[in-house]
Amino acid sequence: MTITPDQRTTLIQAAQAIRQRAYAPYSHYAVGAALLASDGQIYTGVNVENASYGLTNCAERTAVFKMVTAGVRQILAVAVATDNGGSPCGACRQVLVEFAADVPVYLVNNAGHSRDTSLYALLPDHFGPEHLHSAPED
Ligand code: THU
Repeated sequence: MTITPDQRTTLIQAAQAIRQRAYAPYSHYAVGAALLASDGQIYTGVNVENASYGLTNCAERTAVFKMVTAGVRQILAVAVATDNGGSPCGACRQVLVEFAADVPVYLVNNAGHSRDTSLYALLPDHFGPEHLHSAPED
C-alpha cells in the first residue's frame, strides 16, 4: 500500500509527540514510535526502562504490543523519533517483521528530519512466520 504524504507526516508527528512520554531515566535516550495499522489507526509506544536494565522495553515493541492487544495484526508504516535519528534495534526489527511486509520506516531526529527506509532494508533475509508454514526446500 502506498503511504500518502499526509499519512507520512501524521505518523512522524505522532512518534515525535509520544516521545515525551518515554521513561528513560537511565539512558536518557527517549524514543517514540508510531505504527500506521491496517485498521487505519495509529498505535504509539515509548521505551520503558527499568532499574533492572535488561527488562527495558523498546518503543517499537511497546507500539506493536498495543496494536496486537487492540486486535490488529498488520502494520502499514513505521515512524521512530529519537534525538539523533537512531535506527530500530535488531530485536525490534524482528518483532516488526512478524506483522509487516516491506513497509516504509521513517527515522526522525529532533530537528524533524526523517531518513526514509524500509523494513526489509533494515532486516534483509529475515526469518518470518512464512518460514514455519512453507514446505521444506529440496
Ligand atoms: N531503544 C528503543 O526504544 N528502541 C530501539 O530500537 C533502540 C533502543 C531504547 C531502549 C533504551 O531505553 C534506550 O533506547 C537506549 O538503548
